Amino acid sequence: MTRLVELEERGPRRLDPSDIDDEKGDVAVCQCGLSESFPFCDGSHRRTHDEDEGTTYVYEDGQRREVERVVTAEDASDAGD
Ligand code: FES
Repeated sequence: MTRLVELEERGPRRLDPSDIDDEKGDVAVCQCGLSESFPFCDGSHRRTHDEDEGTTYVYEDGQRREVERVVTAEDASDAGD
């Protein structure tokens, strides 16, 4: 499975000691791209557990959609030629 996510930041987020979870004593960094607390995991990855291998997904407005293929602006421009 593949997931398309939109990220708006243009630089790194430096972690500091205040980012450590007081109860667990660790820092959980999101790798699924769905966290509302990005870059920290908030448990949203649970929504991905039934994704199928070989399928691309987009999560938008609380909904999950399967994507047939990704079209870049260049692809769209070439199609209009
Ligand atoms: S890994 Fe993304 S929310 Fe947990």
